[in-house]
Amino acid sequence: MKYRLMEMLACPECGNALELSVFHALPRECVATSRATGCRRWCAYRGTPVGQGDRPEPCDECRGVEVEEGLLTCIACSGLFPVTEGVPRLLAGALDDWPAFVTRWKDKSPALAARVASTDPRRREFEARYRATQRSFEFEWLEFRETEDNDLVNFRRRSGKGPDELRGRTVLDVGCGMGRYLRLLAPQDGCDVVGLDLGRAAERAQRELGALRPNVHLVQGNLMHPPFRPGSFDLVYSLGVLHHTPNTAQAFKSIVPLVAKGGELAVWVYYADMLRHPLRLWVSDALRSVTTRMPPRWVYYLAHLAGPLGWAQQVLLRRRWTTLLGAPLFLFTVRIKAPWRIRVMDTYDWYAPRYQWKHTHDEVRGWFEAAGFSELRRNPEDVSFSGRRPRFS
Ligand SMILES: C[S@@+](CC[C@H](N)C(=O)[O-])C[C@H]1O[C@@H](n2cnc3c(N)ncnc32)[C@H](O)[C@@H]1O
Ligand SMILES: [Zn+2]
Ligand SMILES: [Zn+2]
Repeated sequence: MKYRLMEMLACPECGNALELSVFHALPRECVATSRATGCRRWCAYRGTPVGQGDRPEPCDECRGVEVEEGLLTCIACSGLFPVTEGVPRLLAGALDDWPAFVTRWKDKSPALAARVASTDPRRREFEARYRATQRSFEFEWLEFRETEDNDLVNFRRRSGKGPDELRGRTVLDVGCGMGRYLRLLAPQDGCDVVGLDLGRAAERAQRELGALRPNVHLVQGNLMHPPFRPGSFDLVYSLGVLHHTPNTAQAFKSIVPLVAKGGELAVWVYYADMLRHPLRLWVSDALRSVTTRMPPRWVYYLAHLAGPLGWAQQVLLRRRWTTLLGAPLFLFTVRIKAPWRIRVMDTYDWYAPRYQWKHTHDEVRGWFEAAGFSELRRNPEDVSFSGRRPRFS
C-alpha cells in the first residue's frame, strides 16, 4: 500500500477518514514506466493539504514507500483495519481474520492490545451473505494461473473504453480479481488505478502488480460497503462482478457515489438470455443449487468434467445430425473451444459462486437512468452500459 491511496480511502463502516500507523515499510522497487500524478487534495505522506497551485512537483514520496504492515484507524467510530502483505483489509471486523497480526503488533498500538473479538452486526452480515462468495473466488484466483490472451479485447467490449483513453485519470476496478484489467491500465501515463476485491485475490494482484508499480493500488473490501471517499474516481468500472452479490441493483447503487461528478461509470453483468434456451437455464440452476453449497475444492474436481464434455460437444457440433443426436449433452453449460485448463476454470467460475444473477438491457439502462447518469452508451458485450455522472446534481 502506498501513502497515495490514503487520499481515496474511508472507513467502510461509517464513511469517515482513516489514520494510518505504519509498522513495517519498504522502499518500493519501482518499475517507473508510468509518470503518475501527485496527490490531489491531501498528501498523507507530508500530512498537509495540497493547495491549488503550490505543488509543482509530483508527490514522489507518496509512491516511493510500500507499507507492508500497518493499522488503519477510523477517526470517528474507532474501527480498526489491518494492512498486511501490503494490502489494506477494509472489511468490518477484519482483525478477527488476522489473529497473527494482532499478536505481532499489539505492543505498537494500545488500541490493538485492547481490542476484543468483533461483535459488529456487519461482521455477522458478512458471514451470512459474503463469506461463501469470498471463498469461491479466492480458490479460483489462487488455484488458476492460466489466462487467455483476450483481456484487451474483453476490456474494450465490456467497459467501452480503451486503456489509452485513461491516461491521467484516477480509476477504480470494482471486483478486480487477480488484476487482469489493472495490468492493462498500469502502463498508461499518469493513470492511478485502484483494484478492490472481496478476497485474497487482492494479495496476488498486490504481489504481481501493486508492489512493482508506483500507480497501482490494491484494497480488500466489500463493494456493498465501499471503503472509499465519495467522488474519488474519474472512472469506476466493474466487469463481471455485480451479479455475484446478493442484489445486483443494490450493488450498482452502492458504487455510484464513488464516481466523481462529471466522471464515468461502466458495468458489465450477465445477460438474461445468455444460455439461449430455457432448458439449459433450468439444468444450470438445478446443478448450481447443489454445487454452490459444496466446498470450492469439490467443485474444482467436478469442473474437470468440462474437459471431456467440452470435447464431446465440440465433436458433435461438426454435423447437423450429430448435433441433434447429442442434444442432451448440450444441456450442460461448459466452456468449449478453449485450452483444457481454461475450460476447467470457466466451468468452475460458472458453478461455484453463490450468487449469479442475470439481467436485461432495460434493467441495466434503468439503473443508470435512476441514478441520473447522462451520455448513456450500450457497449458491445451483453449486458454492458456506460454513462456520465452529471457535474451538478
Ligand atoms: C468473476 S470474478 C471477475 C474478476 C475480474 N473483474 C475479471 O474479470 O477478471 C468476480 C470478482 O468479484 C469479486 N467480488 C464478488 N463480490 C464482491 C463484493 N461484494 N465486493 C468486492 N468484490 C467482490 C470476487 O472476489 C471476484 O474476484
Ligand atoms: Zn503526496
Ligand atoms: Zn468508522
